[in-house]
Amino acid sequence: MSADASPSSRALAEHYSAQAQAAPDSMKAFWMPFTANKQFKAAPRLLASASGMHYRSVDGREVLDGTAGLWCCNAGHARPRIVEAVKQQIETLDFAPNFSMSSPLPFVLAERLAELTPGDLNHVFYTNSGSESVDSALKIALAYHRARGEGQRTRLIGREKGYHGVGFGGISVGGLPNNRKWFGPLLPGVDHLRHTLDLERNAFSRGLPPSGIELAEDLERMVALHDASTIAAVIIEPISGSAGVVIPPDGYLRRIREICDKYGILLIFDEVITGFGRVGHAFGSQRFNVTPDIITAAKGITNGCVPMGAVFVSEKIHDAFTHGPDGAIDLFHGYTYSGHPLACAAALATLDTYAEENLFDRAIELGDYWEDAIHSLRGLPNVIDIRNFGLVGAIELAPRPGAPGTRAYEVFTRAFHEGNLLTRVTGDVIALSPPLIVERQHIDQIFGILSDIIRTTA
Ligand SMILES: Cc1ncc(COP(=O)(O)O)c(C=O)c1O
Repeated sequence: MSADASPSSRALAEHYSAQAQAAPDSMKAFWMPFTANKQFKAAPRLLASASGMHYRSVDGREVLDGTAGLWCCNAGHARPRIVEAVKQQIETLDFAPNFSMSSPLPFVLAERLAELTPGDLNHVFYTNSGSESVDSALKIALAYHRARGEGQRTRLIGREKGYHGVGFGGISVGGLPNNRKWFGPLLPGVDHLRHTLDLERNAFSRGLPPSGIELAEDLERMVALHDASTIAAVIIEPISGSAGVVIPPDGYLRRIREICDKYGILLIFDEVITGFGRVGHAFGSQRFNVTPDIITAAKGITNGCVPMGAVFVSEKIHDAFTHGPDGAIDLFHGYTYSGHPLACAAALATLDTYAEENLFDRAIELGDYWEDAIHSLRGLPNVIDIRNFGLVGAIELAPRPGAPGTRAYEVFTRAFHEGNLLTRVTGDVIALSPPLIVERQHIDQIFGILSDIIRTTA
């Protein structure tokens, strides 16, 4: 056990704290993900610390968090229970393997998670990220069919504009061209439903867009083309975030579920952003009242503070893997860090925080206020659509001729530097997903700042 009052541990704490909060001497070596590195390093945006609804930048500004970090810090930052649990755990058990060995917390956490999941999705497979959750879910779907004697069901159906992380499985079923085109032929036997974004019919819808349920019939077309006996699973996000926030048309998810049921196709909901209270309830599936066979999650599971993801599977899927002889391994899949004790400790304290503060109710309680606030930006220059559901929002700007994405990027950088507000930009969309502890005054602040900046951005 550490003697944490000793001068040497205090000195160490000061050293590491100072190192974490000062601008780095050099920015050359870190090859930043999904970033225009040269542009960023010429005018960096560096966050040094965080508490509650706010970050503090290395230049000492308090920045309002309009995006829960990257859709992950749903309970806000540096929450006491989570800080305490992680500190405690690192001092007690820093690592334990989970291949034919384990420790208590992965089991304790899995039981807690199973209480939150919809239907009978009672079994939890741990990963370290959303991307790993997706690739794990796709593998589980294929192996499930094989285990029950339908090994010819190998086809996976994704959707245009879908984002399912960056593994080869995820980019194959994903539908964002930039994430796919660089990386060769990808997985074979994948097809894509059309996306449901339709500005012509649905621009400025409040909540679920009224038009587009018929797009679910694409799945019938795929069945007609490929035959159901070749299709293993459909994977979709209930709400897509990374494609610039696409809200499902009213009734669409239910219709997809019906078609999957009709043909024995597994339905996977990628809830990496909709999980853990983002749209009310623990999962989007509960808010939409549509239960998939598999849910992928990450981000909010630990409030973003330790990497962790999870795949939740139904009893029927899990049971298909349990009929081997005694001593046979259920699933030939797993990660060194599946069920890492630090992540489990963080997740348990995160669930405690969500429960103690009723945070899964917030997106419903504040939904109308959020909706009115974001739609108050309608009519500002270049705003061509506004979308919202739960505590998710998007403002789509008209692209500048010949320079798509630059207008929204400028709004994002100006919001950070001039407005002390963190937003997220994808293409010409400003996306918002504040921590669920957001208060009305923060919502007013977010849209006050954005309104000024959008009005003054050419
Ligand atoms: C729906 C969805 N799936 C998967 C991922 C990938 O998660 P990660 O970046 O943790 O790999 C994301 C990330 O934003 C996501 O939004």
